[in-house]
Amino acid sequence: MKRWFHAVWILMAIAGCSTEPPVDIKTITASAQTFVGADTCKMCHLEHYDSWKMTLHSRMTQDAVENRDAIIVDIDETAIRKDLAILEEKLKIPSDKIHVPAVDDILLTIGSQWKQRYIIEKEGTLYIAPIQYNADTHRWVNYHEADWDKRPWIDKCGGCHATGVDFKTKSYHELGVSCESCHGKGSWHAALPKTAVFEKRQTIINPAKLTMGVSVQICGSCHNRGQATQAKAGWPVGYAPGRALGSYYTSTSYATGDIKHVYANEFSKGHHQQFIDWEQSKHAKEGVTCTSCHYVHQMGMPPTRSQTLSAGSKQCLSCHEIVNSNKAHSIHSFANCVGCHMPRIAKSAESGDIHSHVFLPLLPEDTLKNPALPNSCQTCHQHKNEDLKELDRKYKALIVLPKPLGDTIR
Ligand code: HEC
Ligand code: HEC
Ligand code: HEC
Ligand code: HEC
Ligand code: HEC
Ligand code: HEC
Ligand code: HEC
Ligand code: HEC
Repeated sequence: MKRWFHAVWILMAIAGCSTEPPVDIKTITASAQTFVGADTCKMCHLEHYDSWKMTLHSRMTQDAVENRDAIIVDIDETAIRKDLAILEEKLKIPSDKIHVPAVDDILLTIGSQWKQRYIIEKEGTLYIAPIQYNADTHRWVNYHEADWDKRPWIDKCGGCHATGVDFKTKSYHELGVSCESCHGKGSWHAALPKTAVFEKRQTIINPAKLTMGVSVQICGSCHNRGQATQAKAGWPVGYAPGRALGSYYTSTSYATGDIKHVYANEFSKGHHQQFIDWEQSKHAKEGVTCTSCHYVHQMGMPPTRSQTLSAGSKQCLSCHEIVNSNKAHSIHSFANCVGCHMPRIAKSAESGDIHSHVFLPLLPEDTLKNPALPNSCQTCHQHKNEDLKELDRKYKALIVLPKPLGDTIR
């Protein structure tokens, strides 16, 4: 009985083996690579899919027709016009003439954390509606109210907010920042059988296995501001993970005249410019990259809303174990590294809501020399009677004092 069972089992195994098709990587890779979408990746990478779902990347651009809950606020025309009227003097057209879409006209939402914008259609093209909801301050503001229907969404924003965007056909494969934005087109990889582990690895990009410069440029392909080199677009048309970003995109700078998005010292004023800041830092030179501090895949609830590996100063102290307790570091009892080294001087929805990524503190004397430059200190020292010259004087008096005898900050 036992023997018989074995024989059948062996026969079945042999039959099974012979019906398993040989790995024919040549046939699979003969056709052009295409985008397959997160739902295909999910079949084999459920944990990575779940962790991606936890991040804002998966929620960037959402289908508002399929899912009304993607719209985070009531589209109440009266309330919207009331907020717009407050801004009357700054508007390019009167507030009562601004196009306010009906909720049924909203096809897609962009964003949900700091602000939300809405995609509507006009004559077959997708545009960004001229109203914006600022989540933290709960107010409506204008957005390109005069020329909104001259700024197609695909050209201006597309590639940074959707996956597999084709500039020529004005189409996209998937909404949001999906797997293939960072891992490249996945059709070859997905088509290969699970057992072909090595072929699998050869046909997909793992950012952790690229050289540092090329790897961090994946993040830099979106967390950046500038112009495409191969098309008239705001995002790097033609770029794919693993390529050198520089040949597809030129970043903006104060030096080239962008005084709206960059301060005179080349620190960022606008949002999605973290890569531009970071490139100027010592961290960039030493290979401390976006993923040294931010996660894209870790499981569980994020400790901060910005997907950092740990909260606040702990992040810095995980590498900078001992910081000199002299000079600026001797003044404060609480040692809020982020407060001084990453001041909130950039703007997503409202001025000063997001952080600098140059990691250098801006001192009172920076502002005294050029009043158009912010400083780290006044994000806290902003009491009515606090005079910047006085703060500068006190600071300079304190930092020449001998190194204090107390414990170093750990
Ligand atoms: C049919 C199953 C399957 C599908 C579908 C699939 N993968 Fe994989 N993936 C694998 C296997 C198997 C490996 C190899 C695991 C190993 O290295 O041990 C792998 C490895 C990877 C790796 C690591 C590669 C390396 O060199 O370290 C990445 C990244 C990856 N997959 C991403 C994706 C993405 C993105 C998609 C969707 C476009 C996808 N996978 C679809 C099965 C699949
Ligand atoms: C914002 C960019 C980004 C997106 C979006 C993204 N990944 Fe990743 N993925 C990475 C990076 C970076 C790594 C390298 C490891 C790390 O830093 O966590 C990685 C690693 C992986 C690995 C290999 C992990 C290992 O250690 O072997 C797999 C598999 C993977 N991702 C699958 C996916 C799938 C599936 C999706 C979509 C559901 C996805 N990724 C979306 C950036 C991304
Ligand atoms: C070069 C890439 C790039 C381009 C082009 C771009 N964005 Fe973004 N956008 C980002 C990144 C990265 C973020 C998140 C980081 C940040 O805001 O600093 C973001 C954030 C946003 C947010 C806020 C998200 C939230 O959850 O609060 C909105 C809204 C938004 N973008 C709308 C637009 C619109 C509309 C356009 C086109 C006119 C556009 N963006 C063009 C990369 C881009
Ligand atoms: C040395 C650590 C570190 C590095 C390197 C780093 N970040 Fe950050 N990042 C932070 C911290 C800390 C915050 C603020 C966290 C908070 O608010 O709790 C932050 C915030 C952000 C935010 C949210 C908006 C804001 O500024 O508040 C984005 C987007 C971001 N980082 C993207 C990036 C990208 C892209 C890179 C690489 C070019 C990068 N970061 C490199 C530490 C880092
Ligand atoms: C295809 C474009 C794209 C790529 C590539 C990309 N990001 Fe993003 N990232 C975005 C957009 C757009 C958002 C805003 C999502 C939202 O608010 O819903 C965002 C949000 C984030 C946030 C949260 C910001 C916040 O406001 O809290 C962090 C952190 C971040 N990205 C880090 C990274 C890192 C690290 C990489 C590289 C491994 C990367 N991103 C690659 C477009 C991209
Ligand atoms: C993954 C490790 C790591 C993390 C996390 C980290 N750093 Fe660094 N940091 C480094 C390295 C490495 C250097 C370069 C050291 C050197 O040049 O001596 C550096 C350099 C610096 C410098 C010196 C800059 C200069 O121009 O001299 C400052 C300031 C700094 N980091 C601040 C921070 C702050 C603030 C945080 C938290 C938001 C942080 N770091 C998080 C590793 C890290
Ligand atoms: C009151 C603002 C302030 C705070 C808080 C602060 N720093 Fe600094 N940090 C500075 C200034 C200013 C410098 C430049 C000092 C100089 O000119 O010598 C500096 C310099 C540095 C350097 C460069 C090396 C050095 O010692 O000169 C590192 C690294 C650093 N800080 C890390 C940190 C870390 C980690 C924390 C949190 C534990 C922190 N800082 C908190 C203001 C601050
Ligand atoms: C995160 C908030 C915060 C930041 C950022 C900050 N400070 Fe302070 N500062 C405080 C607080 C609170 C005190 C009170 C002393 C304490 O608790 O350590 C203080 C005390 C001081 C003092 C001594 C008390 C006094 O007024 O005579 C000086 C000088 C000072 N700060 C200068 C600066 C300078 C210069 C910077 C920028 C490089 C700066 N601070 C950044 C919050 C901050």
